[in-house]
Amino acid sequence: MTSTHRRILVGVAGGIAAYKACHLIRDFKEHGDDVRVVPTEAALNFVGAATFEALSGNPVSTTVFDAVDEVQHVALGQQADAVVIAPATADLIARLACGRADDLLTASVLVATCPIVLAPAMHTEMWLNPATQDNVATLRRRGITVMEPAHGRLTGKDTGAGRLPEPSQIAEFARTVIDGHTVPFDWKGRKVVVSAGGTQENLDPVRFLGNRSSGRQGFALAEIAAQRGADVTIVAGDTEDLPVPSGAEVVRVTSTRDMEAAMNEHSADADIVIMAAAVADYRPAHVADSKMKKGAADENLARLELVENPDILKGLVSRRASGEINEDAVIVGFAAETGDATTSVLEYAQQKFERKGCDVLMANEVGEGKVFGQSTSAGWILRRDTEPVVVEHGSKQAVAAQILDAVNEILPM
Ligand code: CTP
Repeated sequence: MTSTHRRILVGVAGGIAAYKACHLIRDFKEHGDDVRVVPTEAALNFVGAATFEALSGNPVSTTVFDAVDEVQHVALGQQADAVVIAPATADLIARLACGRADDLLTASVLVATCPIVLAPAMHTEMWLNPATQDNVATLRRRGITVMEPAHGRLTGKDTGAGRLPEPSQIAEFARTVIDGHTVPFDWKGRKVVVSAGGTQENLDPVRFLGNRSSGRQGFALAEIAAQRGADVTIVAGDTEDLPVPSGAEVVRVTSTRDMEAAMNEHSADADIVIMAAAVADYRPAHVADSKMKKGAADENLARLELVENPDILKGLVSRRASGEINEDAVIVGFAAETGDATTSVLEYAQQKFERKGCDVLMANEVGEGKVFGQSTSAGWILRRDTEPVVVEHGSKQAVAAQILDAVNEILPM
C-alpha cells in the first residue's frame, strides 16, 4: 500500500472552497503524513491561519519574508514529497503558469521537484475562459497534474464545471500520483463506459439475490479515466454511496439484464468498455408478486429454481465483432477468483481470459476480507501476447491507473 509519513505541502488559494482544504489536511494527517499548509494572503480571508496551524500541527506563513533565517521560501518546496493545492483559483493558476514567485506558495512551487497536484475551483466562466485553459495546458505540459473540476453547485445560484472535487477524492487522487502513477490528460474526446457494483435479482418484493461488491473499483476506474480527460459513463448496479467522479455520469441499473441493456446502449460509440461489475450469473426462474412465506405453501424459498443470466462481457465482445459497437473499442474484463487445490488464481484467470475474449483482464484473488468491499486490491493484468504484469497491493485508484495505462498502450490512435 502507500507509504506513510510523507511531507505534504498543502497550498490553499483564496476561494470560497478554501474551507474544504481543512478536510483535505485532516485526511493527509489521518494517513500519517506531515502536512505544511501554505495559504495565499487571499486564502486567509476565508479560513484563519489558526485553523490551518491547529489542523496541520505546523506553523503557517504566506510570505517569503517569514522565517528568513531558515530560507523558508526554498526549504519548504525542496523538502516536500508532494505539493497539493486545493483550491487552485484562476489567479493562482495564472501566476504559476507565468512562473511568478511573489508569495510563499508560488515560490515553493517553483522550487519543488516532487509531484505537484492542483485541484481547481472557480466559476464556470473563469474555468472555461481561454486564458485559464491555456494556463492549465501550460502547467500540464510542464508535468503538473491539474485535476478536472467537478460539475455542480457553485457559490451563489449558478451550477456548472468549476466545483472543487470532494476532499477525499482529491486526497485519494493525490496519493495515486504521489505513489508514482502518472495520470496524463490524454483522453480528451475519448468515451469510456464502465460497469460498477453488484447486480441484484429479485426473488419477491422484499428479497433479492446479490453479492458483496461495493463498486469502488469501477468508480476508481471512472475517476482516473475522467481525470485523463475522457467522457465517462458509469453503469452502476448496487454500490456503496460513493461520490460520483468529476466528469462522469451515472446510469443506475438493478438486474443483470438491465445492466446488459445499458452496457450495450452506452458502448455503441465507446473507445473503452470495462466490465468491473460483479454480475449475478443466475436469477430466480420465477419472481413472486407478493412476499414469499415460510412453510409448506412456499417451498419456492427452500428450493429456489434459477436460470442462467446472459454473459454481458462475452456479449460485448461478440457485438464488437459484428460491428454493433465500435469495432476499435478496447474491452476490459475482470476475473474474481479464489483458486483451489489444483488450479491457482492466475491459472483460472488465464482460462477466463481465453473464454471471455476481451483485450485486457484484471485478475483478482477474492475471498474473506479480500477485494470485495475493500479500498485496496492486487493481482495481475493480462494482455494478449504479453506476460501477466503483477499489480502490487494498492488503492483501487492506483490499480485503476495501472489498468488504464495497459489499455492506453493498445488503444488505437
Ligand atoms: N461478467 C459478465 N456477465 C456475467 C458474469 C460476469 O459480464 N453474467 C463479467 C464480469 O463483469 C467480469 C468477468 O465477466 O468482467 C468475469 O466475472 P467473474 O464473476 O469473475 O466470472 P464469471 O464469468 O461469473 O465466471 P465464474 O463465476 O465461473 O468464475
